[in-house]
Amino acid sequence: MSKVSDSYQLKGKTIKNRMTFAPTVKFDYAGADGKVTDKHIEHYKERAEGGIGLICVEATAVLPGGRFGENHLGLWNDDQVEGHKAIVKVCHDNDVVCLIQLNHVGIGANPICGEPIGPSAVETRSGAIAHAMSIEEIREMEDAFTAAAVRAKAAGYDGIQLHGCHSYLINQFVCPKTNLRTDEYGGSAENRARFGSEIIRKIREACGDDFIISIRTVGADPSLADEILVAEEYVKAGCDFLQVSMGIELPEEAIMKEENSYGFLCSLGVHFHDHFKGRVPVSCVGGILDPEKVNYLIDHDLVDFVDLARAELADPAFPNAVLNGTPYVHCFECKRCQYGPGGPHRCPAAVKRSKQREA
Ligand SMILES: Cc1cc2nc3c(=O)[nH]c(=O)nc-3n(C[C@H](O)[C@H](O)[C@H](O)COP(=O)(O)O)c2cc1C
Ligand code: SF4
Repeated sequence: MSKVSDSYQLKGKTIKNRMTFAPTVKFDYAGADGKVTDKHIEHYKERAEGGIGLICVEATAVLPGGRFGENHLGLWNDDQVEGHKAIVKVCHDNDVVCLIQLNHVGIGANPICGEPIGPSAVETRSGAIAHAMSIEEIREMEDAFTAAAVRAKAAGYDGIQLHGCHSYLINQFVCPKTNLRTDEYGGSAENRARFGSEIIRKIREACGDDFIISIRTVGADPSLADEILVAEEYVKAGCDFLQVSMGIELPEEAIMKEENSYGFLCSLGVHFHDHFKGRVPVSCVGGILDPEKVNYLIDHDLVDFVDLARAELADPAFPNAVLNGTPYVHCFECKRCQYGPGGPHRCPAAVKRSKQREA
């Protein structure tokens, strides 16, 4: 049986324990040039020093039109590479494996940044009709993801994570509600996974065998069985790590009603681990805010890794607290960090930490 302190070998890299920092975007940190700022470096340095095994840097746009808003981190041009080297350095200085999440918002485009584009001409949340991508545009988009991965490699990242969930472009191809295509990119799970799979193959070819390719993939939307078929395609294409989260809509009712002590969102990763055990490592996410929950999920071999977002935002010392029983500030679950572009926020846990430091 594994313990949370056990290391894990992935593509020749040692992940020193079973805790990963989930991507969490910082809207007010980047400028319109999409470059890394000192705020990013300090933010990731604090987390790298807190005992986490792997950091996945926040959603990073592969094209300017794919940003959430104007102040969004990017890897769409070579000038953006240099700043990322500093993030990688603070991670590697602390023996933390470092990935970066690559994303395009697709039909959810912010009008300031670009037009909504996606697999099909569906209505967007703002009432606009998305532009349905041609085969040529699909290939160009795959190349944009690949070029961003090549830049990530040049910056020193150990690998990338494709943002394949939470309603963004790769997820829009997978979801039958946003993908109405009748060609080889629509219909069966194999076809709906083709866009993500082709990106994986292109990145593998461009970045080599030892480059980690993770995908944050959908757990159950429309169903667990469908999403496992999709993930099988990603694994066939060469994906090394499945990090399971939510799709566009809530999972099927059977999963929502399942009785367990870790909640429906984590249960998606648990089901995936059950299916992919021994082939590809799997992480789960969602409401893992206490050391007990971390230990429960790993000790019972329910997943290979726990993916932590708010626990790490609230206190970067959380992993050390899990490993050594040292004190930490618990997330207040206030949701204040779920702010949109341009909106400032203060995390009460961070405020509590700074008061403790001053005292
Ligand atoms: C401030 C904030 C920013 C987030 N940004 C991203 C992101 O860039 N990419 C992503 O896949 N998920 C993002 N998420 C979702 C988290 O990675 C995570 O899946 C979610 O918060 C649930 O985990 P938790 O209960 O540990 O917070 C974000 C969440 C928060 C709170
Ligand atoms: S305390 Fe509130 S703002 Fe801070 S991480 Fe938790 S939910 Fe987010």
